[in-house]
Amino acid sequence: MIKQEWIEKGYIDETVPGDVDLKAEIRRLCKEKNAVVLAHYYTDGAIQDVADFVGDSLALAQIAEKTTADILVMCGVHFMAETNKILSPEKKVLIPDLNAGCSLAESCQADDLAKYKTEHPGYKVVAYVNTSAAVKALTDIVVTSTNARAIVESFPKDEKIIFAPDKNLGGYLNAVTNRRMLLWNGGCHVHEQFSIEKIVEFKRDYPSAKVLAHPECKSGVLALADFVGSTAAILSYAEKDEANEFIVATESGILHEMQKRCPGKRFIPVPPSTGPCACNECSYMRLNTLEKLYNTLKYEWPVVELDEDLRVAAKKPIVRMLELSK
Ligand code: 13P
Ligand code: SF4
Repeated sequence: MIKQEWIEKGYIDETVPGDVDLKAEIRRLCKEKNAVVLAHYYTDGAIQDVADFVGDSLALAQIAEKTTADILVMCGVHFMAETNKILSPEKKVLIPDLNAGCSLAESCQADDLAKYKTEHPGYKVVAYVNTSAAVKALTDIVVTSTNARAIVESFPKDEKIIFAPDKNLGGYLNAVTNRRMLLWNGGCHVHEQFSIEKIVEFKRDYPSAKVLAHPECKSGVLALADFVGSTAAILSYAEKDEANEFIVATESGILHEMQKRCPGKRFIPVPPSTGPCACNECSYMRLNTLEKLYNTLKYEWPVVELDEDLRVAAKKPIVRMLELSK
């Protein structure tokens, strides 16, 4: 394990002494080192509270370009930190746990996509941001769940498109844009698990509640939703809508920000349909802890690095996305 290696090399202490005020120390280190902590809405509430900026994957990519900090600490998953490095190579990009991957990104390997592309000449490739730099380098444009619909609609109606890797988001986009994009067979281990039966039960128990779902959910869940959107879109819908109760089909970390923005409203997280765990947490996002964040800032480790040719190739489709998202 990488962590064991750091300990052996003396990069970090195995445990942070109990008397360290983690939040205060994290803020002190940020100031001392001109560092900013970026956190996704799916991380633990304590991480979101200590971060300089909390956002969805599009906002986290946009901030990487704009900030004047010397160090970016990405409390999210690896592809998010990699996107920061692609956009800001001059900055030191850190991630509290290098094992924070993404099952969706894993479901599309660059070699497999390269082969699929050669089997489908004449197709444009649109890739979700939840992909590795090597996959992004093979694509024409990157999308996030916030801008996917608008970006797909920016292509001519008869454009031949491969959409990777999330088949649920791709199916949703095909439905709302009336397209027939070829869909990669990938999915997220959290969003694919939400229980349709539970949503039906909650709708019966809370008849005035609205169902909010992330487009990575299966079509059966999306069919029951009053609103489908990215994490940022779901948050702003909950804030603006007149309903007081919401059934939430996305990673439960988002409830922290929902509750903060709408203290008088009730949010009911949908549990998964199978497995021994009744939770709906992304195991990768939850690898981010205050202790690891503190050690990462203190030792400036682990660092996210990228081969320069790969970085340049992966940057093009991200920049295209950012230009279309202004
Ligand atoms: P957002 O783009 O909505 O932040 O989603 C990222 C993600 O990983 C969803 O599982
Ligand atoms: Fe990846 Fe799913 Fe976790 Fe999002 S929730 S980071 S798609 S594994």
